[in-house]
Amino acid sequence: MIKRILVWDIPTRVFHWLQALSFAAAYLTAFSERMRNYHVALGYILLGLLVFRLLWGFVGTRYARFSSFLFNPKEVVAYLLSMFRGRAAHYLGHNPAGSVSVWLLLALGMFICVTGVMALQDDASDLVVDLHGVSTDIMLAVIVLHLTGVLVSSIMHRENLVRAMFTGCKSSGQDEGIQRSYGWLGVAMVAAVIIFWFVYVKRPLG
Ligand code: HEM
Repeated sequence: MIKRILVWDIPTRVFHWLQALSFAAAYLTAFSERMRNYHVALGYILLGLLVFRLLWGFVGTRYARFSSFLFNPKEVVAYLLSMFRGRAAHYLGHNPAGSVSVWLLLALGMFICVTGVMALQDDASDLVVDLHGVSTDIMLAVIVLHLTGVLVSSIMHRENLVRAMFTGCKSSGQDEGIQRSYGWLGVAMVAAVIIFWFVYVKRPLG
């Protein structure tokens, strides 16, 4: 019997949408000196979210754990081939192809934030500043790949993955949903981001 089961806990969903929002806003504020304070605040928020996701990947719920989407290259290639034959297996969490973009997005996000913090130092080299910009361009390309993958997978399995990233739920015949959604942690994350934003942006500049 097909039923709705919970796949994505609330911290993973909050992480996802706040990360997408802070990356987009940081990108839009990157080109103006007047917006620098906002750009840096957004970068720190993204860094905080990524550090949280790193920890949640070890202690979070089943499908949020890194171990649930750690596939070797052979599995990724086999999945891609089965996809082209129109016979790709259905995964409740990230599928092997999607997991490649997830790993890239997490690693690039971290790299962008770290080079951003380094670029803020008085003695920052041009290389660091260039790496910050180039990795952002690569991130944009990976985001396009990510969105394409989400669209293709949604069509292939007739399941709305974007809605699942909002509601946390997917339809399945397997009784393999997670038991707890950790709503309190999601609320704490949103509160921490809002408080940080106001404290950082409104701080007196020396
Ligand atoms: C409107 C834009 C976006 C949409 C509709 C979207 C949609 C999704 C969906 C549906 C998933 C789950 C995929 C699955 O079921 O395996 C996902 C995961 C993910 N997305 Fe996006 N995404 C968007 C933008 C972004 C952006 C801008 C970033 C990076 C800055 C990003 C990074 C990620 C990451 C890291 C995951 C893995 C989530 C986790 O396991 O924590 N996404 N996205």
